Amino acid sequence: MALLEVQELERGFGSKTFNTRIEVLKGVNLSLRKGELVALMGPSGCGKSTLLNIIGGLLRADSGKIKLKSSGSEYTYGKKKPSGVVDVRRNGVGWIFQDFHLLEQLTAQDNVALALEIRGMKKEEADEKAIEALVKVGLEDRIDFPAGQLSGGQQQRVAVARAISGSRPLLLADEPTGNLDVKSGEDVLNLFKELCSDPVNPISILMVTHDPMLATKADRMLLMRDGITAASNVKEAWGVTE
Ligand SMILES: Nc1ncnc2c1ncn2[C@@H]1O[C@H](COP(=O)(O)OP(=O)(O)O)[C@@H](O)[C@H]1O
Ligand SMILES: [Mg+2]
Repeated sequence: MALLEVQELERGFGSKTFNTRIEVLKGVNLSLRKGELVALMGPSGCGKSTLLNIIGGLLRADSGKIKLKSSGSEYTYGKKKPSGVVDVRRNGVGWIFQDFHLLEQLTAQDNVALALEIRGMKKEEADEKAIEALVKVGLEDRIDFPAGQLSGGQQQRVAVARAISGSRPLLLADEPTGNLDVKSGEDVLNLFKELCSDPVNPISILMVTHDPMLATKADRMLLMRDGITAASNVKEAWGVTE
């Protein structure tokens, strides 16, 4: 059974009247199983972030449907306004961005705990969950460091801890290694793989990347081109024709 099902998703920007309309997504279909790590590739400006933003409940689609189903909860959305999918953002989908989005003055623990407290968790429980998540991403010896004093790779791990601490079943990662050196990027990818193959509670990750080496480590690769996504291999994703 699929965790995430995206059907015939369409989205454009601009105005037909003023001839500034561009159709970006032209009927995207994709599905993700529980525990799958999927890489999404495609040229700059083709609509990868637009797709993630709709799946993450930050942007509405013009048409099409999304189903996100996990342990008792089911969300159906797509055309709903962002204000109508608060539950998706709160309990369905976690985010990881290229530039971490941490509060640099706060410790690693407080960065993670704050996100949980905002969702209504009591401070003590939030602190406990934050520490648990930081241990899981291998930062047990950096829990009390201000985020700004950590390396890029460590900061991205804090962001991953924040994203998994709320027990959301799906992570969306928009170029998560874009600001990291090769080694740190590989570490983040290995961490993703661990989280997806967790024997107790595996999550699923949809990751945008430009790096073919990282993409090949995913379970599957999708290529976005001409407004749709299709299964791909590295050569295809890089436009190599034989
Ligand atoms: N809010 C917006 N308003 C107008 N155009 C947008 C908006 N967001 C994205 N676009 C346009 O949609 C296209 C796809 O953008 P994006 O999804 O960011 O691509 P990618 O992430 O693949 O680089 C681009 O042409 C971009 O300029
Ligand atoms: Mg983008």
